[in-house]
Amino acid sequence: MPTVLEALQNRSSKRAYTDEKIPKETLEKILIAAGMTPSGANMQPWVTYAISNEDTLSNIGDAIIAKMDEGIENDQFIQYYPKKWVNPYKKRRIVTGAGLYKLLEVDRKDNETRIEMWKDNFRWFGAGTVIFVFTDKANIDGAEGVLLDCGAYMQSIMLAAQEFGIDSCPQGSTTEFGKVVAEVLQTPENLALLYSVVLGYEDKTAKINTYQPARVKLEDTVTFID
Ligand SMILES: Cc1cc2nc3c(=O)[nH]c(=O)nc-3n(C[C@H](O)[C@H](O)[C@H](O)COP(=O)(O)O)c2cc1C
Repeated sequence: MPTVLEALQNRSSKRAYTDEKIPKETLEKILIAAGMTPSGANMQPWVTYAISNEDTLSNIGDAIIAKMDEGIENDQFIQYYPKKWVNPYKKRRIVTGAGLYKLLEVDRKDNETRIEMWKDNFRWFGAGTVIFVFTDKANIDGAEGVLLDCGAYMQSIMLAAQEFGIDSCPQGSTTEFGKVVAEVLQTPENLALLYSVVLGYEDKTAKINTYQPARVKLEDTVTFID
């Protein structure tokens, strides 16, 4: 069983999975543990759909890919990525993307392959379960606090999953098509999708899963005042 530090250090986003299904009891254990995530005023603002139904996942993914093919860039409740990328974040983003394409020997100018790779998000990278996290629109009407709570909830899901040998990939790509997800799932009108997390058993033979982007040095992100 990994320690908390090991789980933090060993987790990395996996983008290819085997067919093995996550047992329902395991999924429940992960989500019960993640439900212990602290939240402001104990609001527990996450509203979670844990979907392992193949048809439902295909319907959501197909609807998103159809939108993309229409040339629609997003259909979202919240804007996840910055509208204007500034350094050092812009550079980190480029380095991370370039590292992945280099590993997979995808040319910088090969847009077609890059788009197909992005569309793999909506084939859920072959994983059997996807957790979609919504919140009540009232919670994000002029306030952003619950995004902190729901972000912590995301990490709790991914860390708890590690205990069962289950890997994950968080997805802001679905945030960008949140309204499409809501429409396919016919979720109540008051809910807004924040993100999804793919869960499954990594395909250990897949090259893409060896990618572990490095982090910047401690002193680049932390200021100690002793
Ligand atoms: C909120 C959030 C959204 C993300 N969205 C996507 C996504 O849509 N597709 C994807 O392949 N990876 C996505 N990622 C994964 C990041 O690219 C990844 O966490 C980062 O490059 C660091 O790599 P690591 O998770 O392997 O440590 C997302 C991560 C977070 C935290």
